Amino acid sequence: MNQRPIGVFDSGLGGLTAVRQLRRIMPSENIIYFGDTARVPYGNRGRETLLKYARQDLRFLTSFDLKAVVIACGTVSTNCLEDLQAESGLPVIGVVDPACRRAAALSGTGRVGLAATRASVASGAYERTFRRLDPRLEVYSLACPLFVPLVEEGRCRPGDRVIETVAAEYLLPLRERGVDTLVLGCTHYPLLTDVIGQIMGPGVQLVDVGAEAAAACRELLSQRDGLACRPQGGASYYTSDRASDFQRLASLFLGEDVAGQVQEIDISKY
Ligand code: DGL
Repeated sequence: MNQRPIGVFDSGLGGLTAVRQLRRIMPSENIIYFGDTARVPYGNRGRETLLKYARQDLRFLTSFDLKAVVIACGTVSTNCLEDLQAESGLPVIGVVDPACRRAAALSGTGRVGLAATRASVASGAYERTFRRLDPRLEVYSLACPLFVPLVEEGRCRPGDRVIETVAAEYLLPLRERGVDTLVLGCTHYPLLTDVIGQIMGPGVQLVDVGAEAAAACRELLSQRDGLACRPQGGASYYTSDRASDFQRLASLFLGEDVAGQVQEIDISKY
């Protein structure tokens, strides 16, 4: 048993979709979340900038006495996971490996799609992982840079013509490839599940990378006898820009109200 909290970070609010899953499957855990809303989006940045930001995010989180860290950001997971794992004394869990395992297991035709940020697609991390798991898989990757800002604006519901138009433009070519499984390779995208599901059709299974990372975290902690034991865990949220904005949008991602639990910090100090 280990009562210390789990740290989770993302470039912004998207990682809260992973927190939602962590809280669902591990309700006894305490969670400390950092969303770098002052510098979101990360998805169009170069690797050196990403590494600098990710190291600061991790340094801030590890100022708490944590037992593990979940990188709830596809862009950081695809570009910086190995560096952060090597530099941190803690278990650091990214989204790529768990999501690829799930997609490989789900796909019947062996044709798998990936929708992610530009930096995630450019890194080739998903393709490499799929190749390692099963070299026969055909992987079609697609960068969807407009998804993150639209989701951060709350433009994510069916009926919103802006997001529906953008999503159709991005995803129809992927549908024509005949994929039967689509990895939503960015933690913002689960909020677009209904919009994306409508475009891809009922025959395409969607993989939520945050949910898969949460499951991988539980598995790892349980193997190490590191799960917490208390009736109900709690969560604290930190952001690098206006706490009021974070608070307003967080309920959309989390499905619960975070009033009074959000603090703003200066990430440049870490
Ligand atoms: N949630 C981040 C990811 O999974 C968003 C990327 C961004 O900030 O552009 O990649």
